[in-house]
Amino acid sequence: MRRVAVLDRVLHGARLYDLSRRTIGASNEMRRLVGDVVRPTEGTRMLDFGCGNGRLVPFLPNLDYVGVDNNPSYIEQATATHGSDQVRFVCADVKDLPSLGFGEFDVVVSLGVLHHLSDEVAETAVTAVLQQLTPQGRLITMDPCFHPEQASLARVLMAMDRGRYVRHPEDYRRLVERCNGVVTQQIWHDVYKFPYTHCVQVVVRG
Ligand SMILES: C[S@@+](CC[C@H](N)C(=O)[O-])C[C@H]1O[C@@H](n2cnc3c(N)ncnc32)[C@H](O)[C@@H]1O
Repeated sequence: MRRVAVLDRVLHGARLYDLSRRTIGASNEMRRLVGDVVRPTEGTRMLDFGCGNGRLVPFLPNLDYVGVDNNPSYIEQATATHGSDQVRFVCADVKDLPSLGFGEFDVVVSLGVLHHLSDEVAETAVTAVLQQLTPQGRLITMDPCFHPEQASLARVLMAMDRGRYVRHPEDYRRLVERCNGVVTQQIWHDVYKFPYTHCVQVVVRG
């Protein structure tokens, strides 16, 4: 527990977090997610909830992007690295989304966020983002998960994750369904350079 708390504090700094993601080959997951699941086109309005340092941005075509995160260090680095007229970053808590006046989004992505949030906080967040979707809009989430078919090492890594709420796919599904979302899931076992399991969800409003 103590080791996780120390790691948490160290990775809170944006640059160290960035280095840790590059070391594990995290650009593979971004390419696959954007190419196979998000499939954005020019002009898509996208919200990235829990955007961190904005590492998704280099994988996107020209679009209207808003990244929201409640960690000012990430927002500062994201703005310095990727900010432009079309790519904006805002330091805010996602539960305040409806009052921020961004309007509706075609796609909301939330990558590696739900497994850091308790059911109660996650439900508040998912409810808030579903309200910001256009009628055809989609929420796309991606998180580590426990899975009966995963390698033992993957299971150990899930248990050691900094996020305290790594769930089974059914639990991620139930969480979103309680917010009136309709869910399609994909389970990926082969994205990183080592055994690891991703649960990817595409959610529309029910
Ligand atoms: C593991 S990081 C993932 C960052 C980024 N999506 C990525 O894939 O690199 C989780 C992020 O969610 C943010 N976060 C957690 N709860 C939040 C909330 N209630 N509102 C806004 N951001 C939040 C954290 O500050 C952190 O940057």
